[in-house]
Amino acid sequence: MPPNDKSRNKPWSGRFSEPATELVRHFTASVSFDRRLAEFDIEASIAHARMLHAVGVIGKSNLAAIEKGLAQIRAEVRAGAFPWSEAHEDVHFNIERRLTELAGEPGKRLHTARSRNDQVATDVRLYLRAAIDQAGDLVRSLQRALLDLAEAHADAVMPGYTHLQVAQPVSFGHHLLAYYEMLARDAQRLADCRKRLNKLPLGSAALAGTSFPIDRQMVARELGFDGVCENSMDAVSDRDFAIEYCACAALVMIHLSRFCEEIVLWMNPRFGFVRLADRFCTGSSIMPQKKNPDVAELIRGNTCRVNGHLVALLTLMKAQPLAYNRDNQEDKEPLFDTADTLTACLAVFTEMLQGIEVNRQAMEAAAHQGHATATDLAEYLVRKGVPFREAHEAVAQAVRHAESRGCELSELTLAELQRFSSAIRKDVFPALALEGSLKSRNHPGGTAPARVKAAIAKARKSLG
Ligand code: ARG
Repeated sequence: MPPNDKSRNKPWSGRFSEPATELVRHFTASVSFDRRLAEFDIEASIAHARMLHAVGVIGKSNLAAIEKGLAQIRAEVRAGAFPWSEAHEDVHFNIERRLTELAGEPGKRLHTARSRNDQVATDVRLYLRAAIDQAGDLVRSLQRALLDLAEAHADAVMPGYTHLQVAQPVSFGHHLLAYYEMLARDAQRLADCRKRLNKLPLGSAALAGTSFPIDRQMVARELGFDGVCENSMDAVSDRDFAIEYCACAALVMIHLSRFCEEIVLWMNPRFGFVRLADRFCTGSSIMPQKKNPDVAELIRGNTCRVNGHLVALLTLMKAQPLAYNRDNQEDKEPLFDTADTLTACLAVFTEMLQGIEVNRQAMEAAAHQGHATATDLAEYLVRKGVPFREAHEAVAQAVRHAESRGCELSELTLAELQRFSSAIRKDVFPALALEGSLKSRNHPGGTAPARVKAAIAKARKSLG
């Protein structure tokens, strides 16, 4: 077959007696999406070429030509001027082909001692490392915004809920710090995932390594990896690091989604706890009065994308025999969309939080309903020597009485309260008040405003 035959437009065409059909070519191509890996592919190629030169596989002039060509390609990619073509399948072939066009024969030497299998595994790890770093910065910005809001409202009382029913009074700052903690674990998880994925696959070639005297440590150093993947077959095939990343991202999204759910509730006039700045709300095309918390709803909605991508990646991996299989080409779109979704949601959520207006009166008024200090009364009785189970029963009866009178437990008179336990004295009222209840939960992890302030100070220190 003549070398310039049209069917030979792929580096592997030599093996074949006929070209792929148009349909197959289109079906197998990934360049429309994996071109997002271009910068990482170039970076890895430069490191690979430098190593090939260092170990004597390619000469100095070859290296110079490769580096010059790749620099030009990088500029073209950045300028949006790179001639991407589906005919060249994926990001790797597109770049290699352009390099050969620009640099001539040296371009054809670049693929010595490597395969697209270790190449793509390397590119995806580099991509995810950058995505994790970006997500980490955004999580930290959100944590700072949470601390600022918590600080302003460390002593604001609101009802704490379980089963979405009034449970006990809490500080709004304390409520916010719960999300701070979730995000702190998210940041740790992302950092931990980064550690595990920061190992170099290059050098594994297709699956079995290479006969060339490569220096993998050198490439690892150049690319900022902490070490090399220890097994060539594992390195080119497993995508557990991508699954882990998606799982970390899904948890961040779930935390944002929980918060968004609360914001939507709090925006409802029955709660009226917060107002979102107009710039984060949208109106209705028919109902002129509407101000809807669409941003919060959309973040909640976007969570399903990332959850879906996690399941997609798990399923992608589950029945793959060793080593590389083309199935893995399907990891890219879910990963890219996960990173894009995460970035967008974190950024917009942080801005939204910074524009939130808190209605402390509405929160406090809500805490006055639902007998929020019933547990405090039971604990008061315990301090007077009543066993907790008996105290619980006495307060339950008092609550029933208050309900039948249509008032709050804290509104009962001393005489009424004493009907349920003779241990009740006139010093009971501070225990029934919101402020006393809050103040009394004064231990590490508790909702006393002083503890909330201490937790904020500690958090600020650890955020740096
Ligand atoms: N586009 C491919 C991927 O994303 C690159 C590796 C292809 N390797 C192969 N032997 N066909 O996985």
